[in-house]
Amino acid sequence: MSTPALQEATSKPLDSAWVRAQFPSLRLQVNGQPAAFLDGPAGTQVPRQVMDAIQNYFLTGNANTCGAFASSRVNDAMIAGARAAMADFLHCDKDEVVFGQNMTTITFALSRAIGRELQAGDEIVVTTLDHDANVAPWRALEEKDVVIRQVDIREADCTLDLDDLKRKITSKTKLVAVGYASNAVGTINPVAEITKLAHDAGAMMFIDAVHYAPHGPIDVTSLDCDFLACSPYKFFGPHMGTLYGKRERLLQFQPYKVRPATDALPDRWETGTQVQELIAGIGAAVDYLAELGRRQDPSAGSRRSALLAAYRATRQHETALLGRLVEGLLPIPKLRFFGIHDPKRFDERCSTISIRIGDHNPTEIAKFLGDRGIFTWDGNYYALNLSERLGVERQGGFLRIGLVHYNTAEEVDRLLSALREFAGK
Ligand SMILES: Cc1ncc(COP(=O)(O)O)c(C=O)c1O
Repeated sequence: MSTPALQEATSKPLDSAWVRAQFPSLRLQVNGQPAAFLDGPAGTQVPRQVMDAIQNYFLTGNANTCGAFASSRVNDAMIAGARAAMADFLHCDKDEVVFGQNMTTITFALSRAIGRELQAGDEIVVTTLDHDANVAPWRALEEKDVVIRQVDIREADCTLDLDDLKRKITSKTKLVAVGYASNAVGTINPVAEITKLAHDAGAMMFIDAVHYAPHGPIDVTSLDCDFLACSPYKFFGPHMGTLYGKRERLLQFQPYKVRPATDALPDRWETGTQVQELIAGIGAAVDYLAELGRRQDPSAGSRRSALLAAYRATRQHETALLGRLVEGLLPIPKLRFFGIHDPKRFDERCSTISIRIGDHNPTEIAKFLGDRGIFTWDGNYYALNLSERLGVERQGGFLRIGLVHYNTAEEVDRLLSALREFAGK
């Protein structure tokens, strides 16, 4: 299964020096070594543009919304601008973009609202591959006797078992909740195809695009999904979440809200005062990516075209790093690699890798690397169904190495030589 937007990834080489110069935190040193941020799946670093936008909010627009005075108007305009940026990022209309605290909180709010309309015996499909933030909010509806069906994986390559998925979608299915990409093993799911299967059965489709967002372009219009959530702090922005909802769906369901708050879109879904300074950072994160795209392809006209150009370049860069990493990892003694490792199938995955080495607890490896300035993650990263399914939950989970566009071949080589040293201890 391939992802069309990712197949056409030919671009001039990423201007890595320019990219890295935009991220001041990449200059951090640890024990005399430059920090290698391979922890992107848990949250990426932010470019200077994002920091400036957050500061600028406090300097020019620090007021609540819709007031009859200057700073409030500046804030209103800033929020409208950030929403327009996210609409370009997702390829939807501005009033279909909802801001919120993080993906988990937004998804719980959505599941509560959808749950009001569900009856006992209605079904929701979740997967073994997903982060728990796309499982637990739906499982919470078991309180209302909604039936949750969980789709299995093919263990050999950690891809979704699509035959099982087809079996689990029935005439009672009301919603299918699937991740765009696995935050543990990097598998990219065929979400357009799954959306069609859901719709053919009369069900809605919810996509968790949190992990995919830093790696590939999202197009909710062509996906035709009903909802899609992602978190700007995973794509070079601040710690917030965003939800896309088809207009008719955002109107169909009734969120829990305070009475004086407007019922208009998208406000009815944005309860209370938002973290406005961080919304400023979201707009700047999207504009940073667009700026990168225009540098890569000066003919990119609209912000959306510039974003697509950026992702062509970052995808190409990340895939090259992924190849180098996988080739170096596989020969390491006692290394267990989870997921797709054949370069011919790299369009089915992104550059996030989980491994284990022998019986070593992944925390031990992460600490060994951390002492050398190499930042990786250990544990289950909340992909609990998967770590249980693969039998590693009780052994400390996995070690995760995440590559994003600001990472370099030198960092991959440093990581590989540290892992070889660890494995040879
Ligand atoms: C795939 C995936 N989904 C959901 C989440 C939860 O996102 P948030 O931290 O915005 O609630 C994460 C966070 O790691 C994730 O990786």
